[in-house]
Amino acid sequence: MKWNCIASKGLIPLRIHVEKDYESLSELAASVVAYDIVQNPNIVLGMATGGTPIGMYKVWVNQVREGNLSFREATTFNLDEYLGLDATHPKSFRFFMQENLFKHIDININRTFFPIDDMNQPFFEYDSLIQQESGIDVQILGIGRNGHIGFNEPGEDFNRLTHVVELTESTRQANARFFSNSEEVPTHAITMGLASIMNAKKVVLLASGVDKSLAIYNSISGEVSPKYPASILQQHPNCTVILDEDAASLLPK
Ligand code: F6R
Repeated sequence: MKWNCIASKGLIPLRIHVEKDYESLSELAASVVAYDIVQNPNIVLGMATGGTPIGMYKVWVNQVREGNLSFREATTFNLDEYLGLDATHPKSFRFFMQENLFKHIDININRTFFPIDDMNQPFFEYDSLIQQESGIDVQILGIGRNGHIGFNEPGEDFNRLTHVVELTESTRQANARFFSNSEEVPTHAITMGLASIMNAKKVVLLASGVDKSLAIYNSISGEVSPKYPASILQQHPNCTVILDEDAASLLPK
């Protein structure tokens, strides 16, 4: 595997890998994280929803079916969850993870956590629970067109842990594709904060498609600024960015 290292303005080199298309991005991302799972079966993974990681999850499902990968000992913490939807709601992130990954693999469902409690209320002790589990070993992230990670929108304080957010109109519009109409998209969510994400020992950021190219350009080759929440990752000591050519199209060659 060859990595193109660039020194970002945050002074810590991000490992950036550009793959031809979404399929090869998904395969590479799956094997980068699978390597860590094999090395450490008790791994604690930070999971993301959205369209981007679906391809990677499919690769893992096949690897588990073929007997080449196991999540039996793994623990997962999802990045975020909508408020106002219960866990069985088809648009909840719990449901998403169940459908796209958990029900197809050998994970212990009692070891899969979301930042809501049994009553679907915000679970503010999420970061403490993560630390009790000795922290996230690998945090998987997608990125929004405005540079958001989790539900941390532009302007978000870099120092926040898990907290409730009111969703911006642009995020609600972007997520409307998963609902029958934009009115149905919840107005609030709970998300790990940027400090929670930075506490992960390793971060793997995925982005695919030309509509992510500006966010990627601003976040990884621009200044570290709350204007681009993902730009904080330039200061993470162990961050790997896996892009397809479209998402990387604005980066200097
Ligand atoms: C998902 C999440 C979001 C998405 C981002 C990109 O749990 O927290 O930040 O990663 O909105 O979404 P997609 O992958 O659908 O483009």
